[in-house]
Amino acid sequence: MYEVEVGDAFKVLINELKQYGETNDTDGAVKCLERFVNDPDDVVAAIPRSDVDEILLYVDENITVYRIATTPQILYPPHEHEMVAICAIYKGSETHVFYDPDGDNVVKRSQVRFKSPAVVDLEASAIHAICNEGEEPNESLHVYFGDLETQKRTLWDQDGKNPQQYIEEDYLSFSRPFDRL
Ligand SMILES: [Fe+2]
Repeated sequence: MYEVEVGDAFKVLINELKQYGETNDTDGAVKCLERFVNDPDDVVAAIPRSDVDEILLYVDENITVYRIATTPQILYPPHEHEMVAICAIYKGSETHVFYDPDGDNVVKRSQVRFKSPAVVDLEASAIHAICNEGEEPNESLHVYFGDLETQKRTLWDQDGKNPQQYIEEDYLSFSRPFDRL
């Protein structure tokens, strides 16, 4: 179901991604999104411009797609998705901090800054936090193999403690300036 008004170029992309979501074909979706980030103009022109950080563009039982424009210099808290997640970065950069489970808590494993054009795929068990280290908002499509809106999943605080069910208000209230990383 489209959640906003979109143009044909975006619908073509969604139709292809839906097939990969139905068959859980991560490689197919990554290749599709690599083509997108290397030549994004037509698809980007087909989705709404907005100052909002996050717009839900499309969701059904097999895929969820957001346009994400991450505010610079804010580190968001560690979380999981419980489904394959693929980030297609077409403007600026997106830094991912990866975590490992430690009992019920999580501990930081590594940190990588991905500069556009870049596609980052995360398996269903991945735990990460994101940040935009640049000076301008970045832009990306985040694609999930399932209905992320209804998925129960876990959020941790910035110390990787206090696991709790993900809700958007807590995700935002746990964010902090990146220079404290
Ligand atoms: Fe995420």
